[in-house]
Amino acid sequence: MQKIEINLTVNQRSYELKVKPNKRLLDVLRNDLNFTGVKEGCGIGECGACTVIMDGEIVNSCMVLAGQARDSEIITVEDLESENGLHPIQKAFIDAGAVQCGFCTPGMILSTLNLLKENSNPTRSEIKDGLEGNFCRCTGYKQIIDAVELAAEMMRD
Ligand code: FES
Ligand code: FES
Repeated sequence: MQKIEINLTVNQRSYELKVKPNKRLLDVLRNDLNFTGVKEGCGIGECGACTVIMDGEIVNSCMVLAGQARDSEIITVEDLESENGLHPIQKAFIDAGAVQCGFCTPGMILSTLNLLKENSNPTRSEIKDGLEGNFCRCTGYKQIIDAVELAAEMMRD
């Protein structure tokens, strides 16, 4: 299959790549660009481990082809940490004990980021709805919901 040229902006930086059009965005991000915070779980759009923000929307990067991501702006979890240290959402996940094996955490954090952009003071039920595409095998979700509440509080202050 012939390769195509695509431009992508990932975490504020532009990339020009030649890739097979049916290559998954997940593989472009992890293997070509080394953003290994993007995880592969199910590979079929069900677990949310591969969550990224694409043009402001949460997507499962295992279900997006490189050709579909052409000219888009992508945010991965690597964008959150800055020279000032961890993002409040990252701190809240640690403080609330919401990181156990950590495999779901990058996706959970990006879904939280998008949720809190739209709703700075979500109820526990709204948090559950906002994270419904992200599965966690370890925590039983209580600590994750606590973490999102804590992050919301920290970001409002
Ligand atoms: S790896 Fe993409 S949704 Fe599970
Ligand atoms: S912390 Fe292990 S899957 Fe969520």
